[in-house]
Amino acid sequence: MSDIIPRYWYNVVPDLAKPLPPPLDPEGSNFSRIELLNDIIPKEVLRQQFTAERYVKIPDEVVKLYELAGRPTPLIRAKKLEEILDTPARIYFKYEGATHSGSHKINTAIPQAYFAKEEGVERVVTETGAGQWGTAVALAASLMKIKSTIFMVKVSYEQKPGRKIIMRLYGAEVYPSPSDITEHGKNELKKNPTNPGSLGIAMSEAIEYTIKNGYKYLIGSVLEVVLLHQSIIGLEAIKQFDAIGEEPEILVGCVGGGSNFAGFTYPFISSKIGSRYVAVGSSEIKKFSNGVYKYDFPDSAGLLPMLKMITLGNDYIPPPIYSGGLRYHGLAPTLSLMIKDKIIEWMEFDENDVYSAAQLFARVQGIIPAPESAHAISAVIKLAKEAKEKKERTVIAFNLSGHGLLDLSYYQKMEVK
Ligand SMILES: Cc1ncc(COP(=O)(O)O)c(C=O)c1O
Repeated sequence: MSDIIPRYWYNVVPDLAKPLPPPLDPEGSNFSRIELLNDIIPKEVLRQQFTAERYVKIPDEVVKLYELAGRPTPLIRAKKLEEILDTPARIYFKYEGATHSGSHKINTAIPQAYFAKEEGVERVVTETGAGQWGTAVALAASLMKIKSTIFMVKVSYEQKPGRKIIMRLYGAEVYPSPSDITEHGKNELKKNPTNPGSLGIAMSEAIEYTIKNGYKYLIGSVLEVVLLHQSIIGLEAIKQFDAIGEEPEILVGCVGGGSNFAGFTYPFISSKIGSRYVAVGSSEIKKFSNGVYKYDFPDSAGLLPMLKMITLGNDYIPPPIYSGGLRYHGLAPTLSLMIKDKIIEWMEFDENDVYSAAQLFARVQGIIPAPESAHAISAVIKLAKEAKEKKERTVIAFNLSGHGLLDLSYYQKMEVK
């Protein structure tokens, strides 16, 4: 097995300056959401969610599956981007789009499916918006020889047939949500037969279906256990930078719930490598500029325990930007804390900036980035231009969280704009 793939995940929680506020049930609630987690989430995943261990062992079988799914992912120098920007900065990226599912989401789908299988579960269930998470779960379940059911937001199901075909090819059952196979879906359809769906509805359907059938539910971002699994990105990158005798100074990643950004940067923060950590969001969503730090539900339906986080409110309806992965209303609790404490800084970019950055990157480096990842590229271009003005030979590294080969309708829409 590759020795670049780490054998332990890194957990930031014991290294935080302040204790992390615990998940809570809302006051006066008639059921315990924390008990609900016990029923629907694989036991080892839940244990890892609340662990105080700094390093959590990755089972050998999971390391083997990581390798099978395309890990370690390459660390690449973006020399042509440096040249066209005429910057003295050196720019590197960790390419998560090189995994077989095409994004970082597989890094947590594999261990979650593995721990579900270990418990004897025959099927795992989740929801997906744009489709990257659903694709990763479908592949992870197939690798573990268990079944998967994915509730996909109906509008994406119709607009992105490619994703649905891939999930089914990997063996998943995929339902457009709202569907008529859950009570929640049926109620929504009764109210509005042409309901286009939302992540909140899809999540409620997935949880209802999990409970009713005794399956297990897999979660795609925001919870600490997901950030823990994603630390594999930064841990690999540290070894890869070490091997080429280079140290990044500025680390950048895009943020939906925060898992790829945290996975990439937390191991560097803990090793005291780098001096600036830049989280990048969408200026159409304004989570960083307008979000409030408070207890809120991580899901729109309010079925999961409340988390203390920077949030726009779980009833926030995001504008329909194409970067579906960045439309989420909140930020993972540890990331929220570190943003509040100014350990991590942030930037926001709009769809036009992001399209220009993606186009430039594709033309000089050859890789078509997912629009979510292109937010990080926008920040890198800004930082590289600043380095040019200040004549600074800094090293910038970013996480390219996924490829955009299934996002061509976005590129077509932006091209004609
Ligand atoms: C390619 C890609 N990048 C980034 C994200 C944002 O999610 P997170 O912040 O959890 O990494 C997503 C989520 O769907 C995604 O698909």
